[in-house]
Amino acid sequence: MKIKRVLPYGLAAALALPLAGLSQATAFAATDYQAEDATVVQGTVATNHTGYTGTGFVDYTNVKGSYVEFTVRPASAGTTAVTFRYANGTATDRPMDLSVDGTVVASAVSFPATADWNTWATKTIDVPLTAGSAKIRATATSAAGGPNLDRVRVDAATDSQAPSRPGQPSCSDIGEDGLTLAWGAATDNVGVMAYDLYEHGNKIGEAPGGSTSKALTGLTPGTTYNLTVIARDAAGNTSPASPVVDCTTRPSSDTTPPTRPGTLSAADVTANSAALNWGASTDNRAVAGYDVRSDTTVYTSVTGTSTTLTGLACDSPYSLNVVARDTAGNVSPPSNTVTFTTKACATDGGVPSSVATLSSGWTIPWGVFWLPDGKSALVTERDDFRVWKVTKDGTKTQVGTVPNAVTTNGEGGLLGVAVDPNWETNHRVYFMHTASEGNRVVRMTYDGTTLSGYTVLLQGIKKNRYHNGGRLAFGPDGYLYVSTGEAQTPDLAQDKSSLNGKILRMTTDGSPAPGNPFGTYVYSLGHRNPQGLAFDRNGRLWEAEFGNSSKDELNLIKPGANYGWPTCEGTCSVSGMTNPKATWNVSEASPSGIAIVRNVVYMASLRGERLWRIPINGDNESVGTPTAYYVGTYGRLRTVTKVPGADQLWLSTTNCDNNGGAADGSDKILRVTIG
Ligand code: GCU
Ligand code: CA
Repeated sequence: MKIKRVLPYGLAAALALPLAGLSQATAFAATDYQAEDATVVQGTVATNHTGYTGTGFVDYTNVKGSYVEFTVRPASAGTTAVTFRYANGTATDRPMDLSVDGTVVASAVSFPATADWNTWATKTIDVPLTAGSAKIRATATSAAGGPNLDRVRVDAATDSQAPSRPGQPSCSDIGEDGLTLAWGAATDNVGVMAYDLYEHGNKIGEAPGGSTSKALTGLTPGTTYNLTVIARDAAGNTSPASPVVDCTTRPSSDTTPPTRPGTLSAADVTANSAALNWGASTDNRAVAGYDVRSDTTVYTSVTGTSTTLTGLACDSPYSLNVVARDTAGNVSPPSNTVTFTTKACATDGGVPSSVATLSSGWTIPWGVFWLPDGKSALVTERDDFRVWKVTKDGTKTQVGTVPNAVTTNGEGGLLGVAVDPNWETNHRVYFMHTASEGNRVVRMTYDGTTLSGYTVLLQGIKKNRYHNGGRLAFGPDGYLYVSTGEAQTPDLAQDKSSLNGKILRMTTDGSPAPGNPFGTYVYSLGHRNPQGLAFDRNGRLWEAEFGNSSKDELNLIKPGANYGWPTCEGTCSVSGMTNPKATWNVSEASPSGIAIVRNVVYMASLRGERLWRIPINGDNESVGTPTAYYVGTYGRLRTVTKVPGADQLWLSTTNCDNNGGAADGSDKILRVTIG
């Protein structure tokens, strides 16, 4: 990092302004991690002295080896000032080893007496951190144990100066399907971490910061590539794009097209979709992909031999064929033509007409999210962190568990799940779960059979026993929407700088979504405990949340709007607060999930033990009269999800929790048909 600093935080803050004047490239940010929220081994959380921050401090057991481990999330890499706040009311020094990710970076650091147990002092050391996540552990090295530890503060020198523009690129070694791109090196105040290589605005490769050339492979023969290079530093600052070079790959020597695809057939035709299957083609080199076409108009291109075409017009005839392509652009003869007519157009409305038990043996199933192929859904279980694949016919198979999840002995645990809209190619799935330090949004890999990998996308969402929110949804904009509770701290809902009591909107890489109203993760505020999210046919976001003692809410979410909590509960007339579209007495609802079928919102209710049906008034921003179904019949209802390609809902119960009191394994997923 460009400024090496050992200043305590207060002094750094005082200097931040003059430093900013000297070097606009540097700003300081600091994050506190409370010891009482960290992993404590041989120690207890205590509150029996004054002057601590947060909700307590850790009293180390007085033995050598007792430790506290903080999971921190540095914003940038490099030498970082880490400040421990502690009290030591004895005359004895209580030295500790400080380690980062298992490596001791400072041995037997002195934590001398602070006069008494109510007097807190700080100790700052500089440690090397990598951006992202690090585990900082403070381990007592003497029999006296550690001091009382209040928190750790992690500073980060944020680099905001972008690398210079890379020099003119050029191509060499041009072949049929590859070339070598070279460019002039960029410079940076900290260092160029990588070069991103772009073709007409799309990133097609990257090279490490030290390099100035890269072999590009897998290119299409006889094709002109419009190439530029952008330099990036570790903080993510990017340079202006280099000048452009146009390079044309050599024409292919391959003139043999793939063979004609095998028999094309259509199945599962709905009003708006159809499943297509065909036989594989062969090629003298390799089949690059298949085009699904109407006559010669390409509807979609895929690499496999099946696809579900979506977005079809209802009640309309289709005649489709498939061709195979190779990388040289040679096209096979078309397959047979398959013809079908999509089903009748759905009309607004419908009511629940029948219910069947789809699957039983569950213990608090919480999140449900369908895979894009519409054949199966992923289902989470809140308290044992298991994740299941459930097929449309109700067959359930465990695919894994989510690591690092903890319960709150209340409403936290493994909560929402979402599947990437591009899952077929990237296999990404997302979870919201409670962890040691708070609630997190994480990304894992699901290959269709097994869960693996684990990347934290967002942490620092405060947890509490209740009010953890937890629903995930993908918007039509491709961004991930996250509902967070106020963690039993109502004022957080009005605090724009807090992640709690909010609807958040983020990219699938864990950044605030571009265009968010405050330039942060926050999309809307003033929520108490939102657990229902669903998008309607106009792409509008509806949300349901638990009220406190009087009114639950169904809201229509607008970016930047404030939904009132804790100033308002239900409808009020306070300027700046947005009122709900419908409200319920908490005894009659206490809603969790919502789903929309044929322009009707269905809302699963826990305490109210019923499914609410709330019709949206056409494309207006208002709803008609809510009506209730199954009052008391199935117990507490948690999550409701539309079944893809069908006028059906999956509806899950939560009877095994503290409130329901039923035996583990007695929850169910029901299938409701809308007729
Ligand atoms: C006292 C004090 C504790 C402290 C302990 C110790 O019991 O109240 O806060 O941790 O001494 O000596 O470690
Ligand atoms: Ca102690």
